[in-house]
Formats: sequence, C-alpha cells, structure tokens
Amino acid sequence: MRATAEHTATGVTGSGVRQAAARLAGVVVRTPLLTSAGLSSAVGADLVVKAECLQVTGAFKFRGAYHHLSRLSPEDLARGVVGASSGNHAQALALAAQLLGAPATVVVPADIPEVKLAAIDRLGADVVTYERDSQDRDQVVAALSAERGLCVVPSANSVAVMVGAGTVALELLQDAPDVDTILVPVGGGGLAAGCAAFVKATHPRVRVIGVEPYGCNDTQLSLHAKHSTPIAAASSIADGLRHNAPAPLALPVLLHYLDDVVTVHDDAITEAMALGFEHLKVVLEPSGAIALAALLSGAVAASSTPGTHLDGRMGVVLSGGNVDWATFGSLITRRHERGLPRLHRPG
Ligand SMILES: Cc1ncc(COP(=O)(O)O)c(C=O)c1O
Repeated sequence: MRATAEHTATGVTGSGVRQAAARLAGVVVRTPLLTSAGLSSAVGADLVVKAECLQVTGAFKFRGAYHHLSRLSPEDLARGVVGASSGNHAQALALAAQLLGAPATVVVPADIPEVKLAAIDRLGADVVTYERDSQDRDQVVAALSAERGLCVVPSANSVAVMVGAGTVALELLQDAPDVDTILVPVGGGGLAAGCAAFVKATHPRVRVIGVEPYGCNDTQLSLHAKHSTPIAAASSIADGLRHNAPAPLALPVLLHYLDDVVTVHDDAITEAMALGFEHLKVVLEPSGAIALAALLSGAVAASSTPGTHLDGRMGVVLSGGNVDWATFGSLITRRHERGLPRLHRPG
C-alpha cells in the first residue's frame, strides 16, 4: 500500500489539500498541537496530539463541509444543500451553509445524541431523521435532493470534503515535521484519505495508520480484500464511525496511501477519553478518542504489517468532542468501575 507517486485519478492530492488550506485560512480554527509528558508516559510513546475537538462545531468535519460549499456556484448555494450525517457533518454543514447564505437540510439518525441535535437546531438547519436499521440514509438524501432541488454534500464521499479534511495533516506536519507516524480515525474514510494523500505527497517517510472500531471493521476488511467489503451491521459507542462500507471515492485513495488500518474495542475508547481529560484537559467523544485508544490497546503494536511499532514520534488526531456531559461522565465512570488494565503504562 506504499505510495510511489501521486494517485491523481481520484483528485485527492497533496496540491488539492494545499489549495483547500488556502481557501479555509481564516475560516477554520488552527487547532493546537498538544503534548503531555504524562500522556506520553501513560501510552509509552512520544505523542503530539492534534486537538480537532477544538475546531469550529467541535469536530474536524467543518473543514470539509465548508470547503465543499465554498466551491459551489451561487445558484447551487441559493437552491440549498442537503447531507446525511451521524451528527458532526450535519453541524458542520449547517454552519458552513449559514456562513455562505445557503439553506441547509440535514438527514440524521433518529438516535442522534441530543447534544448534536441541539447544536444543529441552533444553526437553523432543517432536520430530517431516518432509522439506522431500516432506512438507507443515502436514499433519503437522494429523494430530498430530487424533490427540493438541493445540492448533495456527502460527509466523506466528495473530493472537496476529503482534501478539506486533509488540512488536518497539513497543519500537523507544519507544527511537528518530525513525526514518524500519524494515527487517524476512520469512518467513511474521508479524513484518512485526505490526510494520507497529503502526507505521502509531502512526507513519504511518515506512516499513516487508520483506526476504526472493532465492530465496524469495513475499511480493514476492504483494504485486506483490496475492494469494498461491506459489513452487515456496524456496532460501537463511536457513533461517528459506524459505517457499513468505506465511501467509494475514499477507498482507492486509502488503498493507495494508507499504511495500515487497525481496530480497537470500545473499552479502549473510553480509556482514551479518560486519559484525554486527565492529561490534556480536553473532552473527546468516542469517535474523537479512537486514535489514542489504538495506542492504549496495543492495536498499533500488534498490527500484522511488518515494521508497525511504537518507535518514534506519534501524531494522534483527536477528531471531535461532541458529547454531552452525562454520556461523557457515564462512559468514564464505567471504565473506572471496571478497573481496566492500562496497557503500555510503565510501573
Ligand atoms: C469525530 C469524528 N471523527 C472521525 C470521523 C470519521 O470521518 P470519516 O467519515 O471522514 O472517516 C467522524 C465522522 O463522522 C467523526 O464525527
């Protein structure tokens, strides 16, 4: 899966990410790169952490949504936009549409966390809900688009969204050019695709490893099979990563650039949420904490890819923090009550 040349066929390229960064300058927050000796020692690796939980709307998703909308014609913007999301892309789309003067409709699962729904409401988007188990959200979006003439803005399956998301890696490497490995969460694969394409175009020696929940290992299966391998049911506390198949436009990019994909169990995710709070003073939602969880659980060290190990400096993307305090509290408490073993913790 090592890249030797830019995989330009998809349009997800290093120069595409650079152009997106220029468009997003002054609109997105340049999120801080955090370090903590305590956290590094807890996971047994030298860490730098990209805190995208501090991004506008609380997740990296605003980068891609705004970038996609900023490339639409005034006529398309005036007709309005529609997108489906577990919540974070919906919030990002709602804000981007508000800033660019477009009406927004968002399609969200009926079990969307209350904190995400409230934020979307505040941003003034129309909300349409669907049932995760019985309805195909893309069909709901397609029907709305056809009925109302709305422009579809996918959460991952768009080149503009992916290169927008890739600006996370661009900033990370500007601030920490000495990282050896970057760990990125994987849902539909847009974030990982944009980041991996940028990293391999500009810093080919840096490894990029995707992380997805054990119960949603569609990308791992697809990368091993070298073609899309959907799973029947996706289950995890990481609601943003519950996908049955990689986004079709992301998959070839991931196949070309990603060094590996590892999976982690939900228990390691709650442990990572607790450690983020303890050492970095950040609030992470489960999806946002999964890259850190990969280090805690040993998933990266245990990877079957030759050469995957914990040596060197790790860049960890903490992708979102949209979780209400009651859920956050109960997840952390559950982990505390179980007294989980802290892997890689010295002493
Ligand atoms: C917080 C968070 N992290 C990561 C992801 C995964 O992003 P992608 O679908 O681009 O792989 C999502 C997707 O919704 C998310 O909300």
